[in-house]
Amino acid sequence: MVKIAPSILAADALNLERDIRKVVDGGCDWLHIDVMDAHFVPYLAYSPEVVRELKARFTVPLDVHLMMDNPELLIPVFLDAGADVLTLHAEAYARNDPDAVSATLERVREQLRVIRRAGAKAGLAIKPKTPVAPIRPLLPEADLVLAMTVEPGFGGQTLHPEVLHKIRELRDLGYAGEIEADGGITEANLSSLARHGLSVAVMGTTVFHSENPRETIHRLRNSRKMDL
Ligand code: DX5
Ligand code: ZN
Repeated sequence: MVKIAPSILAADALNLERDIRKVVDGGCDWLHIDVMDAHFVPYLAYSPEVVRELKARFTVPLDVHLMMDNPELLIPVFLDAGADVLTLHAEAYARNDPDAVSATLERVREQLRVIRRAGAKAGLAIKPKTPVAPIRPLLPEADLVLAMTVEPGFGGQTLHPEVLHKIRELRDLGYAGEIEADGGITEANLSSLARHGLSVAVMGTTVFHSENPRETIHRLRNSRKMDL
């Protein structure tokens, strides 16, 4: 069953708790919290305090996505704030250059171990242009691989269909952890993602901008049933 992880980036920023309660009561599996530093990606989003307050108010697992340079600076802070899943980008130490990822794997590996040692699930994200090959040595250290289906930085974009082959490639490599996709996921493309081996779908616009999040989540669950 594909887990539904609404991305709070698409929620009403001045009515965050109200909107989040709707999707949690509507039966979402996780909450996805985007963290952006206006440098690794050209936008700014969410602080550790939001994670801390969400932890105090909700029991649903908190899936924190770090789109930032030097993630080691805040990984301990987000762990302390209560992140259940904490994901850093394979490109974080490669100056956003997919070709430089291989040379910085050891720094990424160390952070995945920091996350796991703290008892959280360690996530490894790759942008659409980053292939699976350079991160293969890190797969045993990652509880989750996040295959970005849009260029990170903004919600409401259109899914890059060529990323589906990376999901299939990870499963064909025998990767048995969570595979998450993030960006542009809709009721129309969820089934195809599930058939390729997806296990967690991040959905911001589709859930938070729907007339009735509870009904949307219910339809998504049923569409997943058709896949099984
Ligand atoms: C984009 C973020 C995504 C985004 C998803 O950089 O990582 O989580 O909020 O939003 P939608 O589902 O609206 O594309
Ligand atoms: Zn995200």
